[in-house]
Amino acid sequence: MQVFRTISGLRDNLSTHRIRGQSIGFVPTMGNLHDGHLALIKQAKETNDIVVCSIFVNALQFGLNEDWDKYPRTYDSDCAKLDQSDCDYLFFPDDGEMYPNGLDTQSRVICPTMTDVLCGASRPGHFEGVTTVVSKLFNIVQPDEAIFGIKDYQQLAVIKRMSQDLCLPVKIVAAPIHREADGLAMSSRNSYIKKEERPKVKVLKEVLELIAQQIKAGNMDFIKLELEAKKRIQFEGFRADYVTISHSKTLQPAAIDDRQITVLGAMYTESARLIDNISICLD
Ligand code: PAF
Repeated sequence: MQVFRTISGLRDNLSTHRIRGQSIGFVPTMGNLHDGHLALIKQAKETNDIVVCSIFVNALQFGLNEDWDKYPRTYDSDCAKLDQSDCDYLFFPDDGEMYPNGLDTQSRVICPTMTDVLCGASRPGHFEGVTTVVSKLFNIVQPDEAIFGIKDYQQLAVIKRMSQDLCLPVKIVAAPIHREADGLAMSSRNSYIKKEERPKVKVLKEVLELIAQQIKAGNMDFIKLELEAKKRIQFEGFRADYVTISHSKTLQPAAIDDRQITVLGAMYTESARLIDNISICLD
């Protein structure tokens, strides 16, 4: 695997592949790679000749009181993992390369409405930072396909919508959630979970699954289902941010005749914020 720290170096190299007619798959990350990321790379290689991964801890998508400064930066172990994977090129820019004019005057990409709900409601500005950096990365890499994990369901939906709205010539591919043995969705932030909290955090997945089962069985009392799930999370000693039954595409609260439904949840442990989701099709 070859590492590029500059946009021009990566672009020059990728153009030689494009001239040869080779397709490019792209996996953007913020590093601290786990098996879930490596599965995205494997998936990218199945349908593309060349795979590019990026590692960039994007300050623009972190709120003022969030974890940008303590976000785990694990370059050496990430490289070792990527070297064993199907990744051909790693793009590892610094802040100056990505935001040469600083953050305050950086042009932004906004995807309205969908980003006001769920994680967007608790993390104002977060998705603006994500859509801005992802569109920059798309312009730099110019991939045929970009692979995103379903674990970040709202992020995936927003990026799909942004790509459609802005006619970006990239196919957005969804990859399944990778889970630990007890069902916890893999995330770079799972390392924040305290040892004593760890056995109980599976409650998030459990309440989402219970709601999905209830809906499939015909229980359409969404408000009560959401409320009971939040109480169960609280009972385990965590704080629910949201548990919401949403329309899978628009992410607005689901109507009882919606057929594509996604149940999404976020909760705070003492030191981590965890998210998960489950989608159901009622046809
Ligand atoms: O999901 C992530 O790791 C980040 O939000 C992304 C897509 C790499 C943008 O910084």
